[in-house]
Amino acid sequence: MLEIRNLTKRFGDFEAVKDVSISVPDGAFLVLLGPSGCGKTTLLRMLAGLELPTAGQIVFDGQTVSDGDRGWTVDPAKRNSGLVFQSYALWPHMSVRGNVEWPLKVMNMPRAQRAERVAEVLTLLDIAALADRYPNEISGGQQQRVAIARTIAPKPGVLLFDEPLSNLDAKLRVEMRTELMRLHRATGATTVYVTHDQIEAMTMASHVAVMNQGRVQQFGTPADLVDHPETAFVATFVGTPANNMVPVVKNGSGYRVGGRHMPLTPPADECLAMYRAEKMTLSDNEGERTLPMELVETSAIAGRVMITGLSEGLRLTAIMDTLPNAQIGDTVQFCLPAEPDGWFDPDGERIG
Ligand SMILES: Nc1ncnc2c1ncn2[C@@H]1O[C@H](COP(=O)(O)OP(=O)(O)OP(=O)(O)O)[C@@H](O)[C@H]1O
Ligand SMILES: [Mg+2]
Repeated sequence: MLEIRNLTKRFGDFEAVKDVSISVPDGAFLVLLGPSGCGKTTLLRMLAGLELPTAGQIVFDGQTVSDGDRGWTVDPAKRNSGLVFQSYALWPHMSVRGNVEWPLKVMNMPRAQRAERVAEVLTLLDIAALADRYPNEISGGQQQRVAIARTIAPKPGVLLFDEPLSNLDAKLRVEMRTELMRLHRATGATTVYVTHDQIEAMTMASHVAVMNQGRVQQFGTPADLVDHPETAFVATFVGTPANNMVPVVKNGSGYRVGGRHMPLTPPADECLAMYRAEKMTLSDNEGERTLPMELVETSAIAGRVMITGLSEGLRLTAIMDTLPNAQIGDTVQFCLPAEPDGWFDPDGERIG
């Protein structure tokens, strides 16, 4: 069990992490997902013991390892966690084997046992053939595997990853994603994985904490986030493509969307309506639920097409079976479904 209780981190007056509480069961794969600067690395560094919380506690397996309220933390080396950074530094003067063996030497593991564990980990990461090479003799992706092998060699109870795949090309990223999930199943170690890539989060996680501006906006399974986003931020950050969010304003006895009157029954005078891209359609003619928009993007995904329109700052995306009979730059009619898939207040809190 990994428990984070009311964790806060301030740098001077600036609150980088604000009152975060999360708990996940042993063996979970927790992803911290959010845009640049939202506090992911700061939270991970507190989990690693590299940063002392300003307030709140971190508890691994029932044992408190950091207590910001008492200004106390267990030394990083003594907390049974392994950390892989985005910029992994391998020892250039040590072979692949030497790099992986190094943390085991530090913990005074006997020689024979070390050799056995190194062989096991190199095989697990499919780099046994590279054991005698030096870091400058292997590719970036292989170096990344070595860094991961080195981290898991001492069998940490908690594995911490900070955007470990961000400097790989798209294909290798997808392959390594699968490898890391396999590794997670093989080791059973509770894993905390930081990324700003929602696809990575949605494919790898057992639990996701979506963060924005230091706060956890929503914590749940990937399916929870897709099925019931609790804030407009989550609704527009998660999903491929993300949900459409349309401002609705009361106007006389009716409601207006993007300058047009619409037959809607929102729960408040001013709110945001969420529409899933797969429920949007394009219409040949103007109708009571259509919005004229400039066609700005089309792209093929998995046998369907994603169509994006733009009008006065409002961006809408529809997933359709066929391309519209229009060119980029033409005006097309986006048609809203009769009922939105959710309502949010102007601050982004869900209200229906
Ligand atoms: N040592 C520090 N002193 C002052 N401010 C800091 C410090 N470390 C981080 N910050 C600030 O805290 C905020 C969160 O930083 P953090 O590195 O946790 O973001 P992140 O979510 O990991 O972003 P990215 O995706 O870009 O890596 C940022 O605004 C950052 O500038
Ligand atoms: Mg970061």
